[in-house]
Amino acid sequence: MKDPAPKSTHLTDYTSPAWRVPKVSLCFELEPEETRVTAMLCVEHVDGHPQRDLVLFGEELVLESLSQNGEPLDSQYYELTKDGLVIRDLDESCELEIVTRIHPKRNTALSGLYISEGHFCTQCEAEGFRRITYFPDRPDVLSVYDVRIEADEKRYPVLLSNGNPVAQGELDNGRHFAHWHDPFPKPSYLFALVAGDLACHSDQFVTASGRTVDLRLYVQAHNLDQCSFAMQALKKSMRWDEQAFGREYDLDIFMIVAVDDFNMGAMENKGLNIFNSKCVLASPQTATDDDFIMIESIIAHEYFHNWSGNRVTCRDWFQLSLKEGLTVFRDQEFTADQTLPGVKRIQDVQRLRNLQFPEDAGPMSHPVRPQSYLEINNFYTMTIYEKGAEVVRMLQTLLGASLFRRGLDLYFDRHDGQAVTTDDFVKALEDASGRDLSLFRRWYDQAGTPVLEIQEGFDDSASEYHLSLRQHCPSTPGQDVKMPLHIPVSVALFAASGEKIPCGADAAIETTLELTEQQQTFVFKDVHEPPVLSLLRGFSAPVIVRDQHRPETLAFLMQHEDDAFSRWEAGQRFALNILLAWVADCQNDRQLLLDPRFSQAFAALLKDAQSHPALVAETMTLPSESYLGDQLSTIDVEAVHMARCTLMQQLGQQCFSTMVEIYEKTQGIAGFDALALGQRRLHNLCLTYLCASGESEAQDRALQHYHHAPDMTHTMGALRALIAQPGEVIHQCLGDFEQRWKDQPLVLDKWFSLQAMAPWPDSLERVQDLMRHPGFSLRNPNRVRAVLGSFTMANPLGFHAIDGQAYAFMAELILELDAINPQIAARLAGCFSRWRRFDAVRQNGQQQALQRILAQPSVSRDLYEIASRSLG
Ligand code: ARG
Ligand code: ZN
Repeated sequence: MKDPAPKSTHLTDYTSPAWRVPKVSLCFELEPEETRVTAMLCVEHVDGHPQRDLVLFGEELVLESLSQNGEPLDSQYYELTKDGLVIRDLDESCELEIVTRIHPKRNTALSGLYISEGHFCTQCEAEGFRRITYFPDRPDVLSVYDVRIEADEKRYPVLLSNGNPVAQGELDNGRHFAHWHDPFPKPSYLFALVAGDLACHSDQFVTASGRTVDLRLYVQAHNLDQCSFAMQALKKSMRWDEQAFGREYDLDIFMIVAVDDFNMGAMENKGLNIFNSKCVLASPQTATDDDFIMIESIIAHEYFHNWSGNRVTCRDWFQLSLKEGLTVFRDQEFTADQTLPGVKRIQDVQRLRNLQFPEDAGPMSHPVRPQSYLEINNFYTMTIYEKGAEVVRMLQTLLGASLFRRGLDLYFDRHDGQAVTTDDFVKALEDASGRDLSLFRRWYDQAGTPVLEIQEGFDDSASEYHLSLRQHCPSTPGQDVKMPLHIPVSVALFAASGEKIPCGADAAIETTLELTEQQQTFVFKDVHEPPVLSLLRGFSAPVIVRDQHRPETLAFLMQHEDDAFSRWEAGQRFALNILLAWVADCQNDRQLLLDPRFSQAFAALLKDAQSHPALVAETMTLPSESYLGDQLSTIDVEAVHMARCTLMQQLGQQCFSTMVEIYEKTQGIAGFDALALGQRRLHNLCLTYLCASGESEAQDRALQHYHHAPDMTHTMGALRALIAQPGEVIHQCLGDFEQRWKDQPLVLDKWFSLQAMAPWPDSLERVQDLMRHPGFSLRNPNRVRAVLGSFTMANPLGFHAIDGQAYAFMAELILELDAINPQIAARLAGCFSRWRRFDAVRQNGQQQALQRILAQPSVSRDLYEIASRSLG
């Protein structure tokens, strides 16, 4: 390791900053191999703060000069440390000039100022600004920025930074400059700079109060035809935030830049969002329906950060969910409003269960507000984002929509321009609603997924139905003792007729129970028959429900339930029970026999295909292999795969003709409304089932589907349906796809990822082949995710092959990647974090891989933290 004992940062060690930096002026003299950064900081000591030294962070910087109020600072007044610069005996208030040099071209970590496809760009969250200049790079230091950029005019005609443009002009030697001013004080993580030869797609937006805002989307010229969807999404987001949350945009210009090399999805820099090009560029020829929806939600997410994150920001990185959980909640609500709320909710729950629940059940488990970290970049997790959003959603459920909205208004008004904590957020909701949320706050501090157990009783003579709820939470690393949480549990009761029985105040047919103790019994009066319980409607809390899930009840709910989530859930639970039984049957060489009640329910479901295509498609989608594995005491990748494929095969066979019918009726659907999206989804899904049936006719259909595909949604539909079985047809299609798209990296990524996920024999060799493809590069995060992310996360048969070769291969590769880009290496290393859930042979193989990683003397702090915590 670079640092023999990396020190963790603890929430309890937080101290407020000793110095303010109300103003910063930056001048960049851009050159790929040596950029000079002149930073002028107005610094003021905070009255009475015990610390006098000014601590500035810095990484990979060459210090050229340092002066106070125009006078060079004598070296006895400052000290260069391993993480920055400490300056002593400064005047209480002064101007500090710091000149540094950096090397953007060598910056392969893609944090700080770097070069992507010849353009300069930045990524500063969380701690990248310290790779640009020495600075108090912490989110509670807010400054007004003035930025001057100088660069060669031919190579870099477009020069951008945050805020509003102030001036631009010519300089000597073919250079030019631009000057930007951002009037809103902001933390350094929101700083951004872009310089390059970029084309611009522009538009305008008139805000609710009548101000005109220039909108600009900058891309490489050859991508100009893939911008209009993102621009529409931006305008929708701006309008929606005004209407749903009363939040208006605040600068004269809003810019989005697409870059090809980017560690994550996108970044909300003030007025200058920077996006992974994958999350902006789209046309029907190159992007699937799911890509479009993803793009719209990310555009919305980053835009919404302008209030939830930028105007009101985080005091420290332990509060990350303050902005991320809230902003994910906001983008979920936005998407729900654009499409079908029930379908959106189902998809969000799937994401949470497939990705966050396992995180919370393993060695990486941490609370929504963590207590400590080694490397903050490792904490951009499903827990901070998705569970954080669930916590906000529960608050909305508990307060009701209108008090919740009043609480958010108070939060934004009270804390505008401040750096605050999740406690401040909850306090604003308390103050606006008059509710006591002290118990609820435990959701922020307690890790792990709570489990709900239920017991029902019916008292005929008293006409009472009794529901006992009991909660417990398994211990998580560093948290053995768990306290009861405040859990909103939405319920409804059904009579045998399928009618709902009034169960809440004023004869409401749905009510939200508040579980606050370890165990509570709720009594429902005037219930004249034993009801069928519908629990956790809308997934009102991120918990696991342990129930008997009797087939009759599940079939009943699949038929009568009117809450989209709960109806879907009944189908999933039914399928899950069958699949789990089949896993045991596989392990014991028993035949896999399908419960006719399930086939009947499934067939009945297909009758709704015309009226609710999207919901039916969700219900037809069987639980994922990873979710199935999570339900087993020891993950058995082969049995899980076999059980799931067999269920698809049997359903495909039994419902063949109905599916052909649906498939044909949903042919040639155009448009982007919720109905059309649902129909196309169903169309593709039916094809997948038809292919799974094994009938040769289906393969021909899929081949036709591929060759006549009008857009990428259909093309990928054919490929996904065919990928389950290796063979002539899929190879022909893959070859054609490669020829067609070899010059469009984002499209080729689909080809990479599909093959890396294919459950065929020799997966590892295939992955190695893909890595030798001219379009592949370890330096590009999208390529790495497409091939290696897909392989490790979505190809359980291949990655967990019993010979352990994939484990060993990945360990070496992760180390190779670590030398290039520690953040990406650390992400990828997450593939080993569930090793304890496997059999002894696989445990051993993964443990060895982790040990191999930790044995590398030069391992980064990022990778070290993931590997060492995984090993436990
Ligand atoms: N704030 C960005 C977002 O909107 C993500 C930044 C992630 N940064 C990182 N270093 N992982 O979600
Ligand atoms: Zn975000």
